[in-house]
Amino acid sequence: MTIQIPIKSFKEGDAFTGYLLAQETAFKTSSRGTDYLELTLSDATGRVKAFLWDLRAIEGDIDAIQPDAFLKIKGAVTIFNSRIQLKLDKLRFAPDEEIPDLSAFFPLSDKPVGEMLAELDRFIDSLKDPWLKNLVVAMLRDDKALREAFAKAPAAKHLHHVYLGGLLEHTISVASMAEKACSHYQSMNRDLVIAAALLHDVGKIAELSYDRSFGYTDEGNLLGHISIEVQWVQNAISSVERFPEELRRQFLHILLGHHGKLEFGAPVLPKTPEAILIHYLDDLDGKLESVFTNIREDPGAGNWTQYNKSLERMIYKTRWPSAAQ
Ligand SMILES: [Fe+2]
Ligand SMILES: [Fe+2]
Repeated sequence: MTIQIPIKSFKEGDAFTGYLLAQETAFKTSSRGTDYLELTLSDATGRVKAFLWDLRAIEGDIDAIQPDAFLKIKGAVTIFNSRIQLKLDKLRFAPDEEIPDLSAFFPLSDKPVGEMLAELDRFIDSLKDPWLKNLVVAMLRDDKALREAFAKAPAAKHLHHVYLGGLLEHTISVASMAEKACSHYQSMNRDLVIAAALLHDVGKIAELSYDRSFGYTDEGNLLGHISIEVQWVQNAISSVERFPEELRRQFLHILLGHHGKLEFGAPVLPKTPEAILIHYLDDLDGKLESVFTNIREDPGAGNWTQYNKSLERMIYKTRWPSAAQ
């Protein structure tokens, strides 16, 4: 079989024939009253909007055109509002058995999972506080199903670290920065900070669905990752005899406050040095990852990226090279 063009290499005028994974599918009616299909399609390298303006060009079962389905498509790459799109000529549902290499469709962290798990274990081993160490070991090492999901989940549906392994990568990044910050601010409780960094987003493994397309689970939509993980940590703590009440409160406080503001889903504002630190590092890591991805993946040729909605600005793409050391 011929290798299909990856989405990230799409250029205006390219003809495309191949398989893509449907992330979103919407049958719509235009202002002129004609029905059309709007899709978001993906492979491991990116996502692209696609339009089919004549529904008669769908072959086979039209009801099978659903999110998470593979589609065989034929179309052409066009540009609209300086964004790459696909204009489809033909489309049909493709059963999984027909797909030559499933791994070509799921974006993966660049960092090998084995290395990231080793890094995670190094942080766990470094904890000296016996209560915190037991708590983190019970959740991220002894609970095999949880550990496996933790190694696979993305960190978000949009915004940042949107790829398999992204949650682990984000977690390690926050913990690494936290470790440096603790040697700078020596009155921080280092173990409290590191343990909270490791567990601050663990609820995302139940909040997000990531077997195929990335989305929210019912549990995630109804409860959110903060309350999910608070419940898990609470359960783990209650199975330990005499877990100190003060530590329980302070640890849960970091998880509850890590989004920093009530309007960003934090039920409480961070009110301890450790909670304030985790909030800012978490925010910084998400934002910078989104900025670097923006610069890397921006399709335009100019100095500026497309408008980044979550950061409410465009990013200047030209980089002054670092001097050779
Ligand atoms: Fe979070
Ligand atoms: Fe986070």
